[in-house]
Amino acid sequence: MAQLERAKFGSKIGVILATAGSAVGLGNVWRFPYMTGENGGAAFIFIYIGCVLLLGIPCMVSEFIIGRNARSNTARAYGKLSGGRPWTAVGYLGVLTGFLITGYYAVVSGWCLQYIYASLVGHLDGNPEYIREYFVSFSQNPVKPIVWTVLFLIITHLVIVRGVRGGIEKASKLMMPTLFILLLVIVVAACMLPGAGKGISFLFRPDLGKVDSDMFLGALGQSFYSLSIGMGCVCTYASYFSRHTNLAASAVQIGVIDCLVAILAGLMIFPAAFSVGISPDSGPSLIFITLPNVFQQAFSGMPAVGFVISLLFYVLLSLAALTSLISLHEVSTAFLHEECRITRRSSAVIVTSTCSVIGALCSLSLGRFDGLQLFGKPLFDVFDFVTGQIFLPIGGFLTCLFVGWYIPHRVVRDEYTNNGTLHGRFFHFYLFCVKYVCPVCIVLVFLHQFGII
Ligand code: PHE
Repeated sequence: MAQLERAKFGSKIGVILATAGSAVGLGNVWRFPYMTGENGGAAFIFIYIGCVLLLGIPCMVSEFIIGRNARSNTARAYGKLSGGRPWTAVGYLGVLTGFLITGYYAVVSGWCLQYIYASLVGHLDGNPEYIREYFVSFSQNPVKPIVWTVLFLIITHLVIVRGVRGGIEKASKLMMPTLFILLLVIVVAACMLPGAGKGISFLFRPDLGKVDSDMFLGALGQSFYSLSIGMGCVCTYASYFSRHTNLAASAVQIGVIDCLVAILAGLMIFPAAFSVGISPDSGPSLIFITLPNVFQQAFSGMPAVGFVISLLFYVLLSLAALTSLISLHEVSTAFLHEECRITRRSSAVIVTSTCSVIGALCSLSLGRFDGLQLFGKPLFDVFDFVTGQIFLPIGGFLTCLFVGWYIPHRVVRDEYTNNGTLHGRFFHFYLFCVKYVCPVCIVLVFLHQFGII
């Protein structure tokens, strides 16, 4: 009975936009540009695209297969397909990872809301020292960032309680095209600045001298994070796909959208930064300290344009963060709703309130309550590190082993070809990637980041 009642996305475009919404997030607009900046520009981009095609997309298809076949939340999905064997733990790990990321992702999302406000009221006008001070004093304030974090979670909550079709799908259909239009407007404005050409050529002319193992591993990690792989989001969304959704084609389309947005984000940031001679900095400072400076200096002759661009940028960032946060929230909401047999609304209330507490603790750990530490690091950094650098690769690795080696190939093929109604082109190539290429590469990244190889 539960099977028949389960919600579904209503259209093909809804599937693509919702899943692409999960993928397109702060990772594209913030992390990708600074990784590109640090890794020599175009060469990194080419390797990144290779990683998305050869590793990211096969992993995404694997999560699709598990989610759609089981038609249940991530924890139960692994249990169902393995007949209750220890593989169930991989599903639980996915839910836990999604839950923890929701808490700290909401903090950075809240910062974006504050910066919309700051752009509107002109708080970002000032010299570079003032802009840096502004960010430091805001992010360390014990109250303000928490208010924005909770507000962001409440907005996410309001979408989630409207359900899969009326909430997630509808919101994605509205927000993703808006995000794309905003991105294009800012790219055009940035590329028209004097001296923008240097930024564009940095982005597209590869510096092969910079290619090394670090760059390759960085690109691989970024592709997984950016495609939201390894933490149950993709699997949960796939459980709402229809039997007719072409899994491989959808994964390719989502991968292409994700890459396109990341490259456009680079085209928005580098030309502007190069035109005023500021080097694209790393870390949170890129979007909250460097860019306000860049916008201000680049458009100093036309302050009204600078004002609009800065405002649009933070609206864009908030939309990107919101569509990702919705998918993270949904992982835990679907889990509580189905496993604890409580209503979807109550499940969402529990997730929103517990994540508000986690978010508040993470935020406080950056400021006055810097005693909120684990392993000598602020709680915020611990969450980021543990989820992104440990849980995510482990989840991705085990998922590949599960689909490539454990589930009968017949089941995998049936899902891939929609029970033989599709050609199943590239099926053997896909299986080869999932069985060998992906697990080996993930292990390499994992060991490399701990300095073991
Ligand atoms: N893919 C998102 C981004 O690029 C981050 C994310 C990770 C979202 C995991 C959901 C789950 O920002």
